[in-house]
Amino acid sequence: MHQLSLPIDEQRRVSGQNYYERLVALLAADLDFHEQNGRYASHNFHAFPAKFPAWLPRTFITELTEPGATVLDPMSGSGTTILEAFLLGRRSIGFDIDPLALRIIQAKVTPLEAREALHLMHGLVKRARSAVETRRTALQERLNRRWDEATRQFVDYWFAQETQIELIALLEEIEAITDAPARAFFELALSAIIITKSGGVSLALDLAHTRPHRAKRVLDKDGAVRIDDTNAAESRRIKNVTKILRSAFDEFEKRALLNIRGLPPTDNAQIPPAIQFGNAQALPLDNNVIDLIVTSPPYASNAIDYMRAHKFALVWLGHPIAELSNVRQAYIGGDAISNHEFEALPATPADIVAAITRVDPKKGRVLHRYYSEMSRTLREMLRVLKPGKAAIVVVGSSVMRNIDTNTAECLAAIGRAIGFEVPRIGVRRLDRDRRMMPAGAVRNHESQIQQRMHEEYVIGFYKPEAS
Ligand SMILES: C[S@@+](CC[C@H](N)C(=O)[O-])C[C@H]1O[C@@H](n2cnc3c(N)ncnc32)[C@H](O)[C@@H]1O
Repeated sequence: MHQLSLPIDEQRRVSGQNYYERLVALLAADLDFHEQNGRYASHNFHAFPAKFPAWLPRTFITELTEPGATVLDPMSGSGTTILEAFLLGRRSIGFDIDPLALRIIQAKVTPLEAREALHLMHGLVKRARSAVETRRTALQERLNRRWDEATRQFVDYWFAQETQIELIALLEEIEAITDAPARAFFELALSAIIITKSGGVSLALDLAHTRPHRAKRVLDKDGAVRIDDTNAAESRRIKNVTKILRSAFDEFEKRALLNIRGLPPTDNAQIPPAIQFGNAQALPLDNNVIDLIVTSPPYASNAIDYMRAHKFALVWLGHPIAELSNVRQAYIGGDAISNHEFEALPATPADIVAAITRVDPKKGRVLHRYYSEMSRTLREMLRVLKPGKAAIVVVGSSVMRNIDTNTAECLAAIGRAIGFEVPRIGVRRLDRDRRMMPAGAVRNHESQIQQRMHEEYVIGFYKPEAS
């Protein structure tokens, strides 16, 4: 029987005696969580690449902390750890540098009255639909005033004219909502209809992979051709380049309804999480204050370019394109190598960096940057954790120049070098149907290296009592 699908109290019985033994037992258990339904509460407010299953943080939080304990995710992403800690009555602290991630987490943990939200939603969609009929020129002027030139060009390239009018009509109504949490909730629903695997209401065909592609042929929902930029070769494989444009109003209504159903409870039993912009390599926290960390850093080698997809929605939410390009530079795992501090690495990561450097010096530097950033991040985790407590770090491997980056073994070696004990690395098989994964992680080859791309590693870092 799937051990971790047992009710929480039963799980406690199968776990070990003391904290360290429980940690090891959890890492040795089945960590796939394919059978557990993670689509509860607000977990699915918004798509997010490489988010981990809700049951992963849920299990470690339940087993390794008591209610009221403080749980940290220094790279919170869409906030799976933060929401679970919140639902389980723990104090939680989340950091990220991605403005969309911060918006997603905040909306997921902000209680709203469902009836009130429903009422607001019906009113705003009705008024927005009517504005498109009666005030099209005013909406067009609003669009013209909204952006600087670079952002305007981006929007014109990636959004059909009709979609732009519908989105601005919705935004005009959303921005008029005076209650800030309700406004943030609906802004996020609007973002969620743009950022989907298939590019949502934008002209992008695909936002799950690193480089989005724009549809060459666009049909409206009745099948009429709205845009046709195909050449002869493309029109032969028309399925790969065609997109059916959906109504932003219909999509928004569906998404907002779904999210209203997942709203977090409005009772006061939970402790509101502290969610902040913050760099995982320099945490604004005191020493020895955290009971548990559950986190997953970006992949090595910039395998998921978060900002490339996120800017599709963020430009609508008031972020100019130039600002977003600057944020992109600060992501762990980025591929720029000038102005970065490179750290001395222990043997395991140093050997892999050297092997990649021999075939591609630039890629070698990129990987060295990643392990340097992760060294600083792990040092921060060690500093803020209470002695005798653990950090659970979930990572996948990347392939650079046909060499496996062995990310889990390398991070474990870095962790040991700075003072963590690493009692065990758990393995989980990815559920490829459910996650937005980087392109390289989902190819269907059976080579050993490709096999490893279908796995993820759950590293247990333990801060010894005496440190
Ligand atoms: C794999 S995702 C986390 C997914 C998360 N576990 C979830 O379930 O949604 C990694 C996150 O690290 C964030 N990140 C990248 N560089 C960062 C930095 N320097 N400080 C804090 N967060 C960072 C990215 O913005 C991204 O949201």
